Amino acid sequence: MDSVFSARGGAGAIPIWFVTAQTYPDVRKLIGADACAFADAAAFEPKPGRHLLLPGKNGLGGVLFGLEGADDTKDLFLPGRLPQHLPDGVYRFANEPHDARLAALAFALGTYRFARYRKVEARKLSLDLPQSLDRDDLGRTVEAVILARDLINTPANDMGPAELEAAAQKLAAQHGAACKSIVGDDLLAQNFPLIHAVGRAGAQAPRLIDLTWGDAGNHPRITLVGKGVCFDTGGLDIKPESSMLNMKKDMGGAATALALAHMIMARGLKVRLRVLIPAVENAISASSFRPRDIYTSRKGITVEISNTDAEGRLVLADALALADEDKPDLIADFATLTGAARVALGPDVPPFFTDDDALADELTASAARENDPLWRLPLWRPYEAMLESKVADINNVGGSQGGAITAALFMRRFVTATSWLHVDVFAWTASARPGRPEGGECQAARALYALLCARYG
Ligand code: BES
Ligand code: MN
Ligand code: ZN
Repeated sequence: MDSVFSARGGAGAIPIWFVTAQTYPDVRKLIGADACAFADAAAFEPKPGRHLLLPGKNGLGGVLFGLEGADDTKDLFLPGRLPQHLPDGVYRFANEPHDARLAALAFALGTYRFARYRKVEARKLSLDLPQSLDRDDLGRTVEAVILARDLINTPANDMGPAELEAAAQKLAAQHGAACKSIVGDDLLAQNFPLIHAVGRAGAQAPRLIDLTWGDAGNHPRITLVGKGVCFDTGGLDIKPESSMLNMKKDMGGAATALALAHMIMARGLKVRLRVLIPAVENAISASSFRPRDIYTSRKGITVEISNTDAEGRLVLADALALADEDKPDLIADFATLTGAARVALGPDVPPFFTDDDALADELTASAARENDPLWRLPLWRPYEAMLESKVADINNVGGSQGGAITAALFMRRFVTATSWLHVDVFAWTASARPGRPEGGECQAARALYALLCARYG
């Protein structure tokens, strides 16, 4: 897709007037008597989400779009609804929405369609950005979100471990990064027993994808880890059909890590970046790993399997152990890890976990600024008792309660870095909202990107 953003300095672009109950009277003075008469005849009301196409001399003269007023809760992505309402053309913001940067971003993200398997009408919709906005940065952000959405939306028959690896290779080539993989039985030879155990039943060989970028120099070293379960049947502890239905999205953490990597590399942030993706299918066959199997992990910790559906934490345990070995300054993992995270916070607010309080505060602020919501949950030490095994060092599942926390505590056992962040993402929008079409979604990457830019930009 070509960029939605154009830079023609506004000449000839159709003006979009943002209005609220409070500002409508003033905007009326700017749009002219004819437009006001038309708006009144059409009974336009300046309410959030309402829009009106205004006639002009040679066609479309402008657009009115209602935003939340002073007393309303604001969805800063509301302008993301505009693309649905507007005919093809070049538009510009005639006045300031609540947040012009997020409005432009939502506008672009609102034009997204997953078009791989079905022709969708080609839109010629573009937004002439105000001079004050950083077109390049918005552009790479949109590319990143589209990359993640496309990867997540692609079904498992076309997005197995091999195709996920190809996507990482493609991104690496685009940015001059190195990318290698450890595949199949080599995982055993190179000591990634858990990645192998989870993925060995898949038709495609399991693998660990390892992308590196930037010169080691004195730059801070950041390692991103993404759960790349290309399909999660649950394994022998098979999921019921309703739970399995959307499990093509179980590589959403990997898609998120690649999206964030794209933004970091495209911006040329002064960091040394590594991206690790354990890519597997949690499949059912004679070679599936089983309940009560015990494996010695890469780190040497023995793990008793009590539920083969708690596979994400297993593949991440080996990947995190590797990430930890070269002592980076920050390890951040993204994973569609637990249903419990959704029970706790719903689909739109992924919980994050870290022992680094400064990082937590920065991320909370950044998430709010970017309209990329995140909420901290505790790594509540006493719940470690729930992970006790009678026969191994640790069990792969906790009790029936606090599941997002016990999953995070499980993974914490494999990391020693003080700056470790874990985000339990949903990676999916079940019903479309402004700027967020139904389907795969990129969560947490923009918030962390803004944090990294603030720290290292
Ligand atoms: N991929 C799932 C978690 C998931 C389910 C994320 C639905 C988003 C939506 C994960 O592998 C899983 O199956 N987790 C289990 C863990 C349980 C067996 C301890 C879960 O959450 O039920
Ligand atoms: Mn599972
Ligand atoms: Zn899973």
